[in-house]
Amino acid sequence: MKPPDRLSRQEILKYLGTHPWAGTLQVLDTVDSTNALAKKLASQGAPEGTVLVANHQTAGRGRLGRSFLSEAGQGIYMSVILRPQEKATELLHLTCCAAEATCEALERGTGKRPGIKWTNDLVHEGRKLAGILTELSFEGESGKARYAVLGIGLNCHQSPCGFPEELREVAASVRMMTGSVPDRNRLAAELIQSFHGLSLTLGKRLQWLERYRRDCVTIGRAVTVTGSGAVRRGQAVGVDDWGALLVDFGRGPEPVQAGEVSIRGMFGYI
Ligand code: BTN
Repeated sequence: MKPPDRLSRQEILKYLGTHPWAGTLQVLDTVDSTNALAKKLASQGAPEGTVLVANHQTAGRGRLGRSFLSEAGQGIYMSVILRPQEKATELLHLTCCAAEATCEALERGTGKRPGIKWTNDLVHEGRKLAGILTELSFEGESGKARYAVLGIGLNCHQSPCGFPEELREVAASVRMMTGSVPDRNRLAAELIQSFHGLSLTLGKRLQWLERYRRDCVTIGRAVTVTGSGAVRRGQAVGVDDWGALLVDFGRGPEPVQAGEVSIRGMFGYI
């Protein structure tokens, strides 16, 4: 096996060259949460394209108040600050775009294209490879976004038994997907390229969603939707033009919004 790679600004820049976001890239060895730090920097005026990459998080955060396991040297924990011009209500698709951008980065970086479990988990053979946490701050009066932080946690080096027992059946890594130990600096650079592309084309919502639907493995599956104190079972039949999952609970498709619910396949994680 190759020796463990070390995430560094210098190595990532070797792949990025004179990228517009190269100047604002920070690589940290340990941090509580790159999203928490990115939100702090964004509220202090950090520009669009500020990228934080960490080798280890001591308090990695996931969706719906969960934690995200972020072991040292095992993954890429990254947050990107965007400053979209749209109102928060016009950014409902952002989270789907972030998943699609990650999917495309992984295909370029590894030659393998993972699937997407709605809304924004990247999956390989039914197991979670990466999670994304999108956090938005907006002005109460105008509804305009102040900033968005896109946080990506990507499992890279773990072997199947390298995950804690409770995750062993549901987690995957890039190494498990490709059969070889990945270069995290290269993958980090691909992620940055993808998120830069996303920042330039966020307005091309329908194009993003068309690609997203092709990668979304939830469509066509029986799902359990948990949220607001209720558990409902239905069939996922599509994704609408703002990224909501269309679920048929027996009376035709109904949009289910991300952020409110947890989706679980009836026969496994996806
Ligand atoms: C999820 O699966 O629920 C989302 C996980 C998001 C994890 C990433 S790791 C980098 C960034 N910083 C965090 O604290 N969380 C996100």
